[in-house]
Amino acid sequence: MKFFIDTANLEQIKEAQDLGILDGVTTNPSLMAKEGIAGKEAINKHYVDICNIVDGDVSAEVLSTTYEEMIKEGEELAALHERIVVKIPMIKDGIKALKYFSDKGIKTNCTLVFSAGQALLAAKAGATYVSPFLGRLDDISVDGIELIQEIRTIYDNYLFDTQILAASIRNPMHIINCAKIGADVITSPLPSILNLLKHPLTDSGLAQFVADAKKMN
Ligand code: E4P
Repeated sequence: MKFFIDTANLEQIKEAQDLGILDGVTTNPSLMAKEGIAGKEAINKHYVDICNIVDGDVSAEVLSTTYEEMIKEGEELAALHERIVVKIPMIKDGIKALKYFSDKGIKTNCTLVFSAGQALLAAKAGATYVSPFLGRLDDISVDGIELIQEIRTIYDNYLFDTQILAASIRNPMHIINCAKIGADVITSPLPSILNLLKHPLTDSGLAQFVADAKKMN
């Protein structure tokens, strides 16, 4: 299972990379805006900065929504760095764009996926990753994990190569449940990844070992 970090914050990306468990980064326009990144030059520079920190794939989302514009923008993004994955929204023109980039050998991430049918279309179009938004479904009382399970079944039935990238992760249980049902990748904010570390018995056990180690010395 791959771990991606879902942020455009360079410090958090460095912290996750230093942990030694980071396989990639996902960003979106909201995450870039949160870091105050604006204007094409600054946006492109920021993507290159991220690529220079991590070893894995870095999803960069197109801002346009028509086929021709997405192709132009996606090609520019892909040319920035070999680790860039072009992130394309799940719309009709997006499906065409996924197929175009797939045929050219450029990696893609199909974003804003909320149904099994959308995930099936993304796989048919040759998307490298498909991003079902777990947390946003849970937010409206729809079981996001159930959707990921459905997509897993469909992709396994037909041996699709598209990797399931569980997105919109809100807590460590989302990560654990994704691991149980075989999501290929999770992309998560840093706090949910770090919360996987925590257990009170680990803390009390370590305190006891440290105290006993002092007696041994
Ligand atoms: C990542 O690819 C998605 O854009 C992101 O996980 C969405 O998360 P959110 O629902 O917390 O905004």
